[in-house]
Amino acid sequence: MTAIVLRPVTEDDLALLRRFVTEPGLVGLDWGGFTDPHEPARRFAADGYLGGTSSRLIVEREQVATGFVAWGRRHFGNPETTAYWEIGIALLPEWRGQGIGWRAQAMLCDYLFTHTPLQRVQAGTHPENIAEQKSLVKAGFQREGVIRSCEFRAGRWRDGHLYSRLRDDPAPDLRS
Ligand SMILES: CC(C)(COP(=O)(O)OP(=O)(O)OC[C@H]1O[C@@H](n2cnc3c(N)ncnc32)[C@H](O)[C@@H]1OP(=O)(O)O)[C@@H](O)C(=O)NCCC(=O)NCCS
Repeated sequence: MTAIVLRPVTEDDLALLRRFVTEPGLVGLDWGGFTDPHEPARRFAADGYLGGTSSRLIVEREQVATGFVAWGRRHFGNPETTAYWEIGIALLPEWRGQGIGWRAQAMLCDYLFTHTPLQRVQAGTHPENIAEQKSLVKAGFQREGVIRSCEFRAGRWRDGHLYSRLRDDPAPDLRS
């Protein structure tokens, strides 16, 4: 497998990021309708997609942008003592199913554990998203359970599946 790189968003990536908010379903099951197509440019100008409550890096393979990973700081209660990272990912359809998704999510965990002291990286996915469920497990996540009726999506309330990887959980071998 050719090396995968996580790198900051550049101006050249804005067309790609705009596609995810203007092409129905390109982002996958998380499609929630059209949103402001100017938002990617505004966000890039504000902080390069690094900071605030959410951040992004581009997933690159052979110098081609294949999609992005995202993360944001969340907390269960006291922001100082219960903080964790919530992550997400979206690859373009032509890059799916080639071993990029699980590696990119494992690499994002390594990045977050290296540069921040937080203990827990969390990811939620959909009951029918088998690719993401398998991808998370390959990336070293463990399934924690079902979150009942946690999101309104595609016309009705639906369950979600919750996964996490802790700092001391075994990291997968990215060369495998
Ligand atoms: C979900 C996603 C990130 C997975 O990444 P990917 O690069 O496609 O998946 P990988 O190639 O790393 O595969 C990981 C595992 O999932 C399996 N898999 C991949 N696509 C699959 C599919 N369509 N159906 C079933 N299993 C699938 C792979 O076979 C592999 O498991 P294995 O080693 O046991 O065979 C990617 O498909 C994607 O961006 N989808 C659209 C957006 C999305 O759903 N994001 C997550 C929202 S919660």
